[in-house]
Parts: sequence; C-alpha cells; structure tokens
Amino acid sequence: MIVVDVDTPGGNYPIHIGSRRIDALDQCIPTDATAIAVVTNPTVAALYGERAEAALARTGKRVLRIELPDGEAYKDWESLNLIFDALLSNRLDRRCVLVALGGGVIGDMTGFAAAVYMRGVRFLQVPTTLLAQVDSSVGGKTAVNHPLGKNMIGAFYQPIAVEIDTEVLNTLPAREVSAGLAEVIKYGLILDPDFWTWCEDNAQKLRALDPQAVAYAIRRSCELKAQVVGKDERESGLRAILNLGHTFGHAIESGLGYGAWLHGEAVGCGMVQAAELSADVAGFDRADVQRVRALVADIGCPVVAPDLGADRWLDLMQVDKKTEGGSIRYVLMSRIGEAFMRAAPDDAVRAVLARTTQ
Ligand code: NAD
Ligand code: GLY
Repeated sequence: MIVVDVDTPGGNYPIHIGSRRIDALDQCIPTDATAIAVVTNPTVAALYGERAEAALARTGKRVLRIELPDGEAYKDWESLNLIFDALLSNRLDRRCVLVALGGGVIGDMTGFAAAVYMRGVRFLQVPTTLLAQVDSSVGGKTAVNHPLGKNMIGAFYQPIAVEIDTEVLNTLPAREVSAGLAEVIKYGLILDPDFWTWCEDNAQKLRALDPQAVAYAIRRSCELKAQVVGKDERESGLRAILNLGHTFGHAIESGLGYGAWLHGEAVGCGMVQAAELSADVAGFDRADVQRVRALVADIGCPVVAPDLGADRWLDLMQVDKKTEGGSIRYVLMSRIGEAFMRAAPDDAVRAVLARTTQ
C-alpha cells in the first residue's frame, strides 16, 4: 500500500492507495464514532455497496446507506437535502461518520453535507472514479452546483482519510477513464514537466488501465495535489493553478447543461483552449500547444469546444470563483510545468474561441 500524507491547517490525513482497500474500510473509522452513513448512488452501490458495508459492519457500529440519484445533473440542493433528511430521520448525532462512496459528485456532496450537518461531522472519502482518486477526493473542496454556475455553493472541509482502491477502476466506463486522465495530465502541465513527458509516453497504457502505470499516475497526482493544498488550502494564491482548463471547462458544462460533457472532458478541452490563450498572451511555445492538443486527444478527450457564441462564452466564464471585480482570471502557462493566474483581454479570448470552437 502507498501512503501520501496531506497536511493542511484544516486537517492532516493520509491517502491510502492499494488494491481491495474497500474491504478494509473498518480500519478508518474512529473508535468513538456512534454510527456510519455511506453516501453513494445506485450505480456504485450495486458494484461496491455490500462490500463496503460488510467491512464497515466489522466496527460493530450502525451502518446506514443513503443513495442519491446518479449524475452531475443531480449535484444540487435537492440531493443534498436527501442526505440531511436521512441523517436526521435516523437520529445520527455529531459523532457519526459519513463515508463518500463514489465519484466526484458523491464526494463533493458528501463532503459539503459533512461540513454543515450539525456544524460539522467527520467524513471519509472512498473515491471510485479515476478523476475522484486523483483530484476531487483530495484537498477538501466540497460543493453543489447552482443553475447559474458550477460548484458555486460549498465549503473547504477536509476528510479524515482518503481510501483509494485501485481495483474499482476495472468497472469504470472507458469515457470516464479518459475524463480522469485529463486531471492526471493537468498536474504535469502545471507543475511537473517530467510527469508530463511520462504521461505522453504512457498515454495508451493509462487508457488501458495498466495496473503499474495507473498506480504511479494516481500516486504522483496525489503527491502533487497534496503539495499544493499543503501550501494554500483555501486558494488564496497558488491553489488556483489546479484550475487549469476549468474556466473554459466550467463554461462548457454549464453552457451545455450539467452532464452533457463529463467534467474531465470539459477540463481536457479547456486545457487546449488555455494553452492557446497562453501562447497568445503569455509566451507559451506554439509547439507545446500542439503537444497539449495531441495528449488530450491521446487520452480520449475532445479537443474542439462547442460553439456557444462568444458573448455567451464570456458571460458563462464570468461566473467563476476566480473572477474578481468583474474581471475573468485565467490559469495560463509560460512553459510546460509552470502555471500562474491572470486576467486576459476579452479580444484575445474571443480570438481563441474563434479557433477552438465548432
Ligand atoms: P461522477 O461522480 O459523476 O462519476 C462518474 C460516473 O461513474 C457516475 O455515473 C458514477 O456512478 C460512475 N461510477 C463511479 N465509480 C464507478 C466505478 N468504479 N465503476 C463504474 N462506474 C462508476 O463523476 P467524476 O468524474 O468522478 O467527478 C466529477 C465531479 O467532481 C464534478 O462535479 C466536479 O466538479 C468534481 N470535482 C471536484 C474537485 C474537488 O476538488 N472537489 C476536483 C475535480 C472535480
Ligand atoms: N480541483 C481544483 C482544486 O482542488 O483546487
């Protein structure tokens, strides 16, 4: 088993990476817990619910299952309320532990519920998609979507541990694997040129879920994310670079309706657009724009964005947590492995939209 430590002002906790971690979940529950609520969805529950609950039952504590509808379109207040309804009607107290068993949608909503239920209860992340294993389960960002903007309502709230079972990826649809790989290559682009080159060399192994390649990619991604959130938990500066591709990507997600494109697909395409903008306004090498486009395509993500109309694109991108005083700020790159955040002229963004959308 691989262990990566996350140290933040909001909490220190381990990320455990290995096979069959789901069967060892009882080891992660604090002895003073009064009850456990597994928050999941019907897809994940059918695959892993019983195994997770059997492991948790070994603690001797009451184990409750809360199933939310599956999908990004349900990452909203209504689903969040289903969690509170179940917790309250089953009389779960302040010493309960919530277990997020699922992808990033379940993880973000369970984390938000844990942050606010009785002003805060403990929660465990058990991410079952590649995207959730390399990104959303680590670092304590929790949220629901608003019809006007992605992840607009939420909290920073750290889990007590992240349990990554690499075997569960074998049931993941190929499209979801590709979406997760978008967040993997993102770390190379913003922080680690060697990891970027390694991803270029291993793209096909990663898509085929070669166990060694995937374990290394998860580990390196978690290490890089832990470094960033350890320095800037609440995104007062550095952490914003983790949003490379997200300003464009979130506009695709909310513009087309949540769920039309997968989050990772939108981020992958958004990274191509951010690379184009970086070449125009930040001196990013044009040859490297082509490398970004090629790797995004190689991992199986789209590289041409939908034509929402430039005015609508700009409107949608305004609703972003990085926007300040009405000025949209983008994560840009000066070279592979070096990213920063800054505003860009609307004309430059329009020029990028004109050549990256169809
Ligand atoms: P998701 O949670 O919708 O999961 C994708 C699909 O895979 C779902 O249908 C799910 O039921 C299914 N699934 C999950 N595990 C499976 C398995 N092992 N086998 C088969 N099917 C499985 O999507 P996601 O890509 O995991 O997460 C995307 C969400 O994460 C977005 O809402 C995004 O905003 C959020 N996110 C948050 C952060 C953060 O820092 N908190 C970072 C990145 C993304
Ligand atoms: N996924 C962006 C972040 O965690 O900051």
